[in-house]
Amino acid sequence: MTTNSPDFQRWTASLQAQFESRIGALLPAADIAPQRLHAAMRYAVLGGGKRVRPLLAFAAGEVTQADVGRVTIAGAAVEMIHAYSLVHDDLPCMDDDVLRRGKPTCHVEYDEATALLVGDALQSLAFQLLAEHCLADDPAAQLEMVKLLAVASGSRGMAGGQAIDLAATGQSLTLPELEFMHIHKTGAIIRAATLLGAHCGNALDPQELARLDHFAKCIGLAFQVVDDVLDIEASTALLGKTAGKDAQHNKPTYVSLLGVAESKKLAGELRADALASLEVFGPRAQRLRELADFIVLRKF
Ligand code: IPE
Ligand code: IPE
Ligand code: MG
Ligand code: MG
Ligand code: MG
Repeated sequence: MTTNSPDFQRWTASLQAQFESRIGALLPAADIAPQRLHAAMRYAVLGGGKRVRPLLAFAAGEVTQADVGRVTIAGAAVEMIHAYSLVHDDLPCMDDDVLRRGKPTCHVEYDEATALLVGDALQSLAFQLLAEHCLADDPAAQLEMVKLLAVASGSRGMAGGQAIDLAATGQSLTLPELEFMHIHKTGAIIRAATLLGAHCGNALDPQELARLDHFAKCIGLAFQVVDDVLDIEASTALLGKTAGKDAQHNKPTYVSLLGVAESKKLAGELRADALASLEVFGPRAQRLRELADFIVLRKF
């Protein structure tokens, strides 16, 4: 299993550290007015999280020889959208969670109105970053990146998936319905992270882009399948979020529909499908392969 290789661990640790300091500098300082909102934004983004989406952007950037500085900005934009989605996901009107990334959730540490505004402000800041930094030589490519992230975040992406999730709570879904929900609520942002990272570098030909896109879609769905499994199999301490919430809230998940064993099997199949679509890239896609392994085999 490659995710245990010291080389992969060094790569992730080094990028996670660099990313932490860079995204910290991109967020408004906590002593700038309105201080409480800025402190809460920093609380939601900094000091936790696996940073899987920025890592996917960096790994996809290796496929296209992208400049790491550019990918850092794109990764920060995606991570801000992700952090906002978590802050809102945890609100009492949604999943009503009190623990996130090993800390009290944003609305518990601050208050609900602040948590709402943290999400609003992080979303705006994400798009501000994409607008004010040069991320691609071709302005049309950069505009495409803005559009990609907007669609992935909105009603045809993450926000839409979250709406389906809320409507489905307490209901049973068919397998295609569940897949549709997961592809939207989680897969869309993971796909955007991968494509944005790639777009920071040399243009891929349409066939290569389609292969990378297929990889990202498979791994995005696999990510949520594994999240569903971990909710039942992992501990609160390891996850840094309350385990067992899906069953407690009567959420339709891969585990509730297929059981743990079948869900793990599906995650493995998605991983194989994802890896097969990287063949065309050869050694340039090694980090993407390792991340696919990490996403499917992770324990937290
Ligand atoms: C959790 O995402 C929410 C989902 C989309 C399943 P992560 O598992 O990536 O959370 P962090 O960023 O590591 O905290
Ligand atoms: C969240 O899915 C997806 C988001 C868009 C945040 P979950 O509700 O399963 O995420 P966790 O388990 O709370 O991290
Ligand atoms: Mg949720
Ligand atoms: Mg949740
Ligand atoms: Mg979950």
